[in-house]
Amino acid sequence: MKLLAIETSCDETAVAVLSCAGGVGDASFRILGNGIHSQIELHKEYGGVFPAMAKRAHAEHLVPMLEKALGGAFMLAPGTIALPDTFDSIVEREFALAEKLRTLLNSHGRPDLDAIAVTSGPGLEPALWVGVNFARALSAAWNLPLLSVNHMEGHFLAGLGTLDSEDTIRIQEIPLPVLGLLISGGHTELDLMRDWLTYELLGATRDDAVGEAFDKVARMMGLPYPGGPEISKYAETYRVSGASEITKSNFARLPRPMIGTDEYDFSFSGLKTAVLYAIRDHGEMSEKDKEQMACAFEDAVTDVLWTKTAKALDATSAKTLVLGGGVSANKNIARVFQENIERDYPGVRLRIPTRELTTDNAVMIGIAGYFHALRKDYVNSDTLRADGNLRLDS
Ligand code: KG4
Ligand code: ZN
Repeated sequence: MKLLAIETSCDETAVAVLSCAGGVGDASFRILGNGIHSQIELHKEYGGVFPAMAKRAHAEHLVPMLEKALGGAFMLAPGTIALPDTFDSIVEREFALAEKLRTLLNSHGRPDLDAIAVTSGPGLEPALWVGVNFARALSAAWNLPLLSVNHMEGHFLAGLGTLDSEDTIRIQEIPLPVLGLLISGGHTELDLMRDWLTYELLGATRDDAVGEAFDKVARMMGLPYPGGPEISKYAETYRVSGASEITKSNFARLPRPMIGTDEYDFSFSGLKTAVLYAIRDHGEMSEKDKEQMACAFEDAVTDVLWTKTAKALDATSAKTLVLGGGVSANKNIARVFQENIERDYPGVRLRIPTRELTTDNAVMIGIAGYFHALRKDYVNSDTLRADGNLRLDS
């Protein structure tokens, strides 16, 4: 089955074409074409993502990314198709997108695709809507069925995959239940999949997402957006240079909010505020101070994430643990999780996605879409909605 996948929930405009085969237990996904445009440069200036700006950037880049993905899959054949009447009403409010899309559709034949998968939530609602309307318009133009994908499910399932070759991902025999720790700029949650594609939300952040905390702390330290990779670099430098000193540093006493509580919820705003005060009290920060602070912050975050995850492993007897979302690219988190799993949970399989799949992309949306296509979970274009607060257990 050949799937077109579309992702616009936050600050990546992503379109992919996948050739999917097999079933649950042995599925493979060949990436035929992949276009990702990151809005990082745009949002850097403001230190964060603004929904209206993100929406505009998606509208501008969706067609070029579609062209790139179809081109990569050799599906951009010259030709033309007659656009159905419904097309105009679907793109009515998407002026910026509509003209580019009409031009593309009017000069190319119908590609050899079987379905379209699109992220319908959670995320920034205006950004999600552009992607949803884009998918609906393509579905009408090419007469293809639609699949609505939860962005978090994309992270969860893609994390279970292994890269077979440069362009093929396989998902084979995953021992259930699977516990997922999804950590990104927008989300921090622990989800449990007891049965295939059925989720239970165990806990989530009550305030800042962990990636957001990384971004805000980086900003306080004068480091550019997105802050996660910056903090990570500083912390690694410090670990390599003299990690034992951390206990003596000014920043060692950072709190671990909610670490000992019974539930699986997280809170990172107190930690962020503690960093703010520590920086204020300390005054001018040298590069070494920044390294120390980054390290202390990363240690506190890792400690909280691991403690809550271990508690959930104990309670659920999960056999697989998967990490997902941009923050799972963090080296320290990956290292600590790997070491602790080997030491304390040798029977649990740990999956950490490859770098390209940790951050937002359309391939993961195609992967989740395919598993739903196997169940014929197609949705009606007229009633498909973007939902910024879509839950994985809804
Ligand atoms: O999954 P993602 O690309 O987008 C969202 O859905 O939010 O995650 C982006 C987040 C940003 O907050 C970024 O700072 C963080 O992931 N991030 C990292 C690292 N790389 C990206 N955080 C910590 N360490 C990293 N190496
Ligand atoms: Zn994400």
